[in-house]
Amino acid sequence: MGESTLVIGGTGNIGRHVVDGLREQGLEARPMSRRSGGDVSDPPALAAALDGVDSVFLIWPFMTGELAAQVASQFAGRRVVYVSAMSAESGFWGEVEAAIREVTDRWTFLRPSGFATNTLGWADQIKDAATVRLPSPGARRSLIHERDIADVAVHALTGHAHLGRTHVITGPEAISQAAQVAMIGAAIGRDLRVEEQPRAEARQAVLAWSSPGFADTALDYWESLVHTPEPVTRTVEEVTGSPARGYAQWARDHAADFS
Ligand SMILES: NC(=O)c1ccc[n+]([C@@H]2O[C@H](COP(=O)([O-])OP(=O)(O)OC[C@H]3O[C@@H](n4cnc5c(N)ncnc54)[C@H](OP(=O)(O)O)[C@@H]3O)[C@@H](O)[C@H]2O)c1
Repeated sequence: MGESTLVIGGTGNIGRHVVDGLREQGLEARPMSRRSGGDVSDPPALAAALDGVDSVFLIWPFMTGELAAQVASQFAGRRVVYVSAMSAESGFWGEVEAAIREVTDRWTFLRPSGFATNTLGWADQIKDAATVRLPSPGARRSLIHERDIADVAVHALTGHAHLGRTHVITGPEAISQAAQVAMIGAAIGRDLRVEEQPRAEARQAVLAWSSPGFADTALDYWESLVHTPEPVTRTVEEVTGSPARGYAQWARDHAADFS
């Protein structure tokens, strides 16, 4: 096995920055995605992609843990940096963590808060009507910039200090969804409105990409964040030496997506 890293989900929000970060250090990074001809659920394709690879960066591209043991079995003995979730204990993310622990001691789990990229889902409403309809506008989230997740992942993939460790990583502050919309407005120079979406309507929207169980859990969670904001950690800065990027920065970085 060589010094190469297989970056599963290497064309996605986080993975593309992991590929860039490794290559900037002169390291070999092999992006894997279905469009580039590699499906992680296809054992021979995964085995071929892992040939000569010592380290794996993993996002889990499924909504259940059904394939966790099958996929993880191919990681035996390798270093694995896995993007789990802050709520790992209650979802499929924890099943994937357990499957990885079974096959290697050389793991690092990143448990991020919600991704700032989730709010790209508001782009069409902003472009069409300068309005965002959403449930729980007062929900305060410590959304994390995809570049910060990638930066922490690159540190974990290239050093020895993070083996066997779980890092809870978040943005630098918890801010309300209404404030996030205002920050997008500032980034694109438009006044944006926020309208509270009734729960039933929001549930239908979430069901477009998830199961009923997931939708109900997500809606309950967002409601709870109105009174109990998501936690904030300083782990991004502790690992990378740079403070986590704020949501206003993220909105400026993605202004073109909302214009
Ligand atoms: N959104 C959140 O708030 C949040 C919070 C915590 C954790 N997470 C976790 O973060 C992960 C998503 O990361 P992301 O935003 O960087 O992903 P993303 O932008 O949605 O990209 C997904 C990547 O995976 C690839 N992919 C999809 N299915 C694949 C398959 N069967 N085999 C190989 N590659 C496949 C995609 O390319 P192709 O389509 O070409 O295959 C793409 O490169 C998920 O595991 C999610 O559970 C998300």
